[in-house]
Amino acid sequence: MSSASLTADLDAVLADANVRLAAAVDLDAVSALDAEFLGKKSAVTAAKKQLGQLDPADRKEVGQAINAARTTLEAEVAAARDRLAAGARQAQYEAERLDLSERLNEVRRGSLHLNTQARDRLEDVFVCMGFTVAEGPEVETAWYNFEALNIPEWHPARGSFDTIFVNLGEPEEVMLRSHTSPVQIRTMENTEPPIYIVAPGRTFRTDTADATHLPAFNQIEGLVIDRGITLGDLHGTIEAFVHAFFGGDVKTRLRPSYFPFTEPSAEFDISRDDGSWLELGGCGMVHPNVLHNCGIDPEQWQGFAFGFGIDRLAVMRYELDDIRELVNNDVRFLRQF
Ligand code: PHE
Repeated sequence: MSSASLTADLDAVLADANVRLAAAVDLDAVSALDAEFLGKKSAVTAAKKQLGQLDPADRKEVGQAINAARTTLEAEVAAARDRLAAGARQAQYEAERLDLSERLNEVRRGSLHLNTQARDRLEDVFVCMGFTVAEGPEVETAWYNFEALNIPEWHPARGSFDTIFVNLGEPEEVMLRSHTSPVQIRTMENTEPPIYIVAPGRTFRTDTADATHLPAFNQIEGLVIDRGITLGDLHGTIEAFVHAFFGGDVKTRLRPSYFPFTEPSAEFDISRDDGSWLELGGCGMVHPNVLHNCGIDPEQWQGFAFGFGIDRLAVMRYELDDIRELVNNDVRFLRQF
């Protein structure tokens, strides 16, 4: 073995290593090349072992050439590792990337919430029919939420309202209103008939939120007190508002029901495309006891009342799958409307 052929071998190895390291596509490939060019069976290791057989005069020079080749190979392996590790990290970053820039860089005009849109439309429809809009407090006493509405303390209907009581005064005396019907009482107490009002507002019950219930929801109450008012006026009013709100194809029907504050009482349904009926709310002729409780003479004045959920109306009108979408505050949902 001559020193000339040894250094020529080393040059060939270096050239080979250079090309193949540059072509390596992953870290495993680099490790294999590392073993091949620098391991026990590599050309540089073999060359070192052959040093002893060389002419002593050549040993130093060839030894330096072997060490230089080793250093070059080590540097090239390290460089190849760095290159591929950076690429792998970059790929991982890309794969795990979280897009936190969502909507930060675009300014959008907001819009009215679905509930607000539904309530505004309802108010418009009723105002066109000659009603005015009334309001009442969200925290009520038992008198307004129950007693004046002909639901005395012993009445089983109290249980059906799943009321959220407020820790104020006597037990079960103060509560978040469980319906908008107390606004009927407040209006009749301080308004001379004839009365034509609608009262939209928030209402509360101990319901657990699910696809069709919310513990804080919205109702709209209607109250008419005038002379000679009949059940026909009630149904006509409901029909007129449903047509105005949903369109002319939607039919309505009343089903006998029970509320302590109306007599007779009914639930009203609207027809759906598939021919089924969907319950919208409750209604009836104002009970004489209720008129009496508000200082209105039932012999002279009659009236009707109705109440229904605005959130449910929005669910129907916009064909939502889940009423909770209304309170999730997901802009991707909200901006569709
Ligand atoms: N307040 C009743 C409820 O929340 C609905 C209703 C209102 C029924 C007016 C009759 C008259 O269930």
